[in-house]
Amino acid sequence: MDLAALEKQLRTLQADAASRIAAVQTTPDLDELGSSLLGKRGAITEILRGIGALPADDRPKIGVVANEVRAAIDALVNTRRDALSAGELLARIERERVDATTPGPAPRVGSLHPIPETIAAIAEIMSSFGFVVAEGQEIEDDVTNFQLLNIPEDHPSRDLWDTLYLQEPGRLLRTHTSPGQIRTMKAGGPPIRVILPGRCFRYEAVDASHGFEFHQVEGLLVDRGATLADLKGILDELAKGLFGAAARTRFRPGYYPFTEPSVAVDVSWPGSKDGWMTILGAGMVHPVVLENGGIDPETHQGFAFGLGVERIAMLRHDIPDLRTFLENDLRFLAGFR
Ligand code: PHE
Repeated sequence: MDLAALEKQLRTLQADAASRIAAVQTTPDLDELGSSLLGKRGAITEILRGIGALPADDRPKIGVVANEVRAAIDALVNTRRDALSAGELLARIERERVDATTPGPAPRVGSLHPIPETIAAIAEIMSSFGFVVAEGQEIEDDVTNFQLLNIPEDHPSRDLWDTLYLQEPGRLLRTHTSPGQIRTMKAGGPPIRVILPGRCFRYEAVDASHGFEFHQVEGLLVDRGATLADLKGILDELAKGLFGAAARTRFRPGYYPFTEPSVAVDVSWPGSKDGWMTILGAGMVHPVVLENGGIDPETHQGFAFGLGVERIAMLRHDIPDLRTFLENDLRFLAGFR
């Protein structure tokens, strides 16, 4: 092996490397090729093994050539790496492109259940007359649910208001929101203007118009000189707010132990199918009930009403069966958007 032969090997390697580097298509392949040419066990090192056979004068000369070839190959590898990684970056950007203008999954829009929706409508109308919303309690005691409302233990009207009793003696699920009248009066003196919405319970055979679980909104006003005419005016406005400005009300004599006189209120409106519909019971708060609430019936008078929320919702939305309110069927609920 002489100087010329070694030099030729190196130059051939350089030329050969140039075309191989140009042909490589990925950076990992390029790295592999680079170290197979320039690395510790690469092709150049391999060729330089022959250097020991050269005369001492020639050795530095071949070293110079080897360095040239190494630098040239290194430069080619670097240039090729720049080109490849730029292309790879572009390809990756293309591959991972996100179209930020694509519409996302549409959120599901819910709506109020017709029961709270109806309660909210009633609360809004009544608030324009200064009534605020308060809450009673679903578990009541016999005294507040019945006795203080002028319904003694042996009163026949208790048949209408049978309910579910708790094991604790005297505790029951309220049969109406009227015990809230007593609690409101006891909690603070007159003047009082409240509505008390909430769930009630009765021992009742369930059908399209009766539930053992239903909702009422109680209304109570106590003030000096409140009259039945005030009650009529406010309930007429409530009916118009719920069933349209053309709605009319009709007051019939009724009976409740806790109001005197008592009335049943019917409503009729242009679209109403069956003429007069009874929507609530009402009356002037019985003097005994005012006293039970700590209010002097000589100085203060009051009126109260109680309406069935399911019934109002059924009339407003033409719902034929009140059992659908409790079934949680989304097809039914979606109809109230
Ligand atoms: N509490 C009565 C009922 O449940 C309704 C009512 C309330 C009547 C207030 C008069 C006054 O039937």
